[in-house]
Amino acid sequence: MSIETDSTIAVIGAGAMGSGIAQVAAQAGHPVILVDTTHDALKRSRAGIADSFAKLVSRGKMTVDESETALSRVHWTTDMAEVAPARLAIEAIIENMEIKTSLFGQLEELIAPDAFLASNTSSLSINALANTIKRPQRFTGLHFFNPVPVMKLVEVIPGERTDEAVIASLLGLMQQWRKIAVRVRDVPGFIVNRVARPYYAEGFAALGEGIDPAIIDHALTSAGGFRMGPLALADMIGHDVNYVVARFVYDAYDGKTRFRPQPSQQALYDGGRLGRKCERGVYDYSADLPNPEYVEPATAPRAIEVAVKHGGIREIIDMTRDAGIAVSISDALPADSLRVDGCVMALGDGRSLATRGDADVLVDQARDFARASIWLVTAKSAIAAQTAASLTQLLGKQLLQIPDRPGQIVLRTLAQLANAAADAVTDAVASPADIDAAMRFGANHPEGPLEWAARFGYGRLSDTLENIARASGDDMYLPSPLFDEPAAATR
Ligand code: NAI
Repeated sequence: MSIETDSTIAVIGAGAMGSGIAQVAAQAGHPVILVDTTHDALKRSRAGIADSFAKLVSRGKMTVDESETALSRVHWTTDMAEVAPARLAIEAIIENMEIKTSLFGQLEELIAPDAFLASNTSSLSINALANTIKRPQRFTGLHFFNPVPVMKLVEVIPGERTDEAVIASLLGLMQQWRKIAVRVRDVPGFIVNRVARPYYAEGFAALGEGIDPAIIDHALTSAGGFRMGPLALADMIGHDVNYVVARFVYDAYDGKTRFRPQPSQQALYDGGRLGRKCERGVYDYSADLPNPEYVEPATAPRAIEVAVKHGGIREIIDMTRDAGIAVSISDALPADSLRVDGCVMALGDGRSLATRGDADVLVDQARDFARASIWLVTAKSAIAAQTAASLTQLLGKQLLQIPDRPGQIVLRTLAQLANAAADAVTDAVASPADIDAAMRFGANHPEGPLEWAARFGYGRLSDTLENIARASGDDMYLPSPLFDEPAAATR
């Protein structure tokens, strides 16, 4: 039951996803039959794939010959009967249960009894679709990401009755297509659309509290190390897609999630400010995007003292020493803090600054303090913020000031993403390694959430989440039990 390089692949639906899947299959050497109900869609698809190949040629990734050969492998048609020779038929049509079910009924009559069937659905249950199929043992979910030729991840979602040989064959085929394939249990949102949700929700929660969107996005790209901030990314995806997926996942789990759909995003959706495609979303794309205001530094610090217990800020201490500043140890300072010209700067641990009599400034977490060009702090006074900025200036960093909120911005986002990933492990959605891979290759995260959790330390993460839950009064932040049994989170 294997699919060879010269086996025909049928793709039904020549929209954004179907065209991308057809392109990748043709590049891997397969004859491809791409079917759509409308000639317009086929015309757009043909132009889109040709354009995509032309770009690859201009970037030296393909020769003209290779692009012409690959293009000649794709056959565009409105005649469904032409799928007959396919070894695998991938459905990528409109997201509608009845229409998809009726299409699978047709496909089953047309393709060979041992050929495979797959759906690229984002939100329908694979088992519910399988129940409408005569031979469900040959059917799986095959969830690609947009744009398909660029995004490496494919979630392979077997139904309860899918044959193991079919799954193995498709996992192997996806590798041949140079994809990273992960095996996922059939749950709403699969891995990526479920585990990534706190990234957006935390961004929109901060926005709803009145925090400047430019600060939120700069915090997460710089200190968080993400390629795009959550608000800019949601503007790019479009709130009609991103907010609707948030609602779908939240409702599918009866609200037992690590995020809630945010009113600040719903307002954009309801108001038709859908993002870049209509020039207005969180940002106004007809003007230059705003930059945040950085804190002006006070005079350069002369000496710095650090706490005896300073494991969490070792990186900061090393950078300070490297900048030529004398560092001495003080037993009068709280854990993971340093004193700069009388101002105590403590690393945030989920507690709010207002409850801390032992600190003047809370430093938000960074994925990598050395690489982050912007750090964030919450400060009790303007002078405390300026003193913190005098240190960051010496280290070559800009400083942003954020309000006092439990877990501040970056730590809370990283911690809640790890919590969502841990829930997915506990629910046996996929293996820890596959969950991390899915977030890297399907959501472009720089590091898997569980890898980050392991680096940060499970015990420390569990304490941080407890602190956030207590300070915010919100049980959604309570730590996953997985962080109490670290062995379970290893791959
Ligand atoms: P799209 O709207 O760009 O394309 C759908 C195409 O299917 C259209 O060209 C339409 O004419 C055609 N079509 C509709 N009914 C048909 C039928 N009965 N037979 C043949 N063709 C038919 O949609 P898109 O974005 O490509 O999505 C397709 C599927 O992929 C959906 O199930 C969606 O949930 C899923 N998906 C979408 C992603 C995205 O980011 N757009 C990501 C991953 C999955």
